[in-house]
Amino acid sequence: MHHIISIGDFDRDGIDRLLDHAGQIQKKKYDAHALDGRILAVLFFEPSTRTRLSFQSAMARLGGTSLSVGSVEACSMAKGETLADTVRVVSGYADAIVIRHPKEGAARLAAEFSTVPVINAGDGAGQHPSQTFLDLYTIRQSMPLDGLDIALIGDLRYGRTAHSLASALSLYNARLHTICPKGLELPATLAAQLAAKGTEIIEHDNLEEIIPDMDVLYVTRIQRERFPDSASYFNVASSYRITPELLAGAKKRLIVLHPLPRVDEIDPRVDALPHARYFEQSRNGVPVRMAMLMQVMQ
Ligand code: CP
Repeated sequence: MHHIISIGDFDRDGIDRLLDHAGQIQKKKYDAHALDGRILAVLFFEPSTRTRLSFQSAMARLGGTSLSVGSVEACSMAKGETLADTVRVVSGYADAIVIRHPKEGAARLAAEFSTVPVINAGDGAGQHPSQTFLDLYTIRQSMPLDGLDIALIGDLRYGRTAHSLASALSLYNARLHTICPKGLELPATLAAQLAAKGTEIIEHDNLEEIIPDMDVLYVTRIQRERFPDSASYFNVASSYRITPELLAGAKKRLIVLHPLPRVDEIDPRVDALPHARYFEQSRNGVPVRMAMLMQVMQ
């Protein structure tokens, strides 16, 4: 049984194969009946637009169907049922489970109790591997993945998409340039793991100064929902904003990515610039997740 819990479970060949497959799918070279009769259970215990709908769209495009739970309140976990029991039961109704949960480690726990493959669609401040596949896919549409200078901007402490992407890029000899409010640095354990793999992590305070050297800006939202109170969130909110003026000195090939949703990190005037790739990035979620579903269900 093939679960997808962490991007760290993949080596470079495994990632490249999945991205290649997504590329074929995007060129319409796929069997639209590949998952006929299969059922995907979509267990989302946190809000989502992109991840939930693109997994459901991916399943439909492959001939399958999906069942969805959109919150704790909408299922029997509201009556005190454990996640373990919920997963045990749901795995009897479906051929795979996609789960999003506010607690780090929840997807791995789900995999222990499931009798069908589990895909982690975000576990608290932990990992978001399907997002990373589409992030890498989007970068690869513009430039090779090897040896990138990428700026990780925003909430690097709680931002699970940044965690997964940093881990993946360590396989591609990236230099990670971090820019974040004080207290929102990459978790020490992750930074140590990356350093142990030989990944260069360079901390910066001045975004404008580094933009001319960057290939990718990976902008993230401050994860308000993970802060203990509003005051500590508002201390760091609105720390960074990407504007056309800021990008004036950028390389021609620089791309701006954001997993979305954005709040105020990217000025809407950036949307019209050729650097802006975040809406294309979210569209790439469908072919990438089709490739993931085929990998776990075939
Ligand atoms: N990027 C992402 O995970 O978006 P959603 O929260 O809308 O799924």
